[in-house]
Amino acid sequence: MRPDATRYSLTRGWPLVSVAGSALILMVLALLAGFGTDELGIRQVIRATARTSFVLFMLAFVASAVRRAWPNGVTAWLLANRRYVGVSFAISHVLHLLAILALYDWSVRRFAVEAGAAAILLGGLGYAFVFAMAATSFDRTAAWLGPRRWRRLHTAGAYYLWTIFTISYVPRAVMESPAYAPFAVVALATLALRIAYRPRRAARPTLAAA
Ligand code: HEM
Repeated sequence: MRPDATRYSLTRGWPLVSVAGSALILMVLALLAGFGTDELGIRQVIRATARTSFVLFMLAFVASAVRRAWPNGVTAWLLANRRYVGVSFAISHVLHLLAILALYDWSVRRFAVEAGAAAILLGGLGYAFVFAMAATSFDRTAAWLGPRRWRRLHTAGAYYLWTIFTISYVPRAVMESPAYAPFAVVALATLALRIAYRPRRAARPTLAAA
């Protein structure tokens, strides 16, 4: 058996990020080829990248909870590759941002005027978290930040981004189209799983046990 061939796999680690990134870029190119590069095509890209972001984000968000709920090979893979799934989410969301800027003809002024204050403030903070979490997904930068601040950033960022996805999809499912219902249900189910399978605090030793 050749050890190097088995160690290198496209289904885990940083190679997984390059596979996911390439697939996302191919998806964007295929959508633009299919729907054109005008507003219709660009909006298809905005929606598609929001949806790939949603899937990748929710997988990373629920990784440790599903590992506790169902300890098997699949959940072991997901937990072991949560970082790489998270960075793949960041790539997908950068494509979402690029498509949004293309929608506004790469004009920051048009973006500022037409995107609206809510999208800029709420979405802007969302992107601040996406970039900060992606930047601290490397051993060196995570070590530089320190475990406590790293945990605070990634926990606050994860719940904030979960909230943006949920407030994007639940109203769409209720008021726009039932086609959005699966996204709304998955968003609420991932939070329920995280709460149901949250890490149990180690029982504090009682004085007697101490
Ligand atoms: C500056 C920030 C942002 C702006 C200006 C923005 C703009 C947009 C626009 C214009 C659409 C609608 C496209 C259409 O239906 O034609 C959209 C859809 C969406 N965006 Fe963003 N967005 C931003 C940030 C974010 C962030 C941070 C998230 C999630 C964390 C997000 C998640 C979504 C979702 C879930 C959809 C619905 C896509 C679908 O139809 O499935 N957006 N965004």
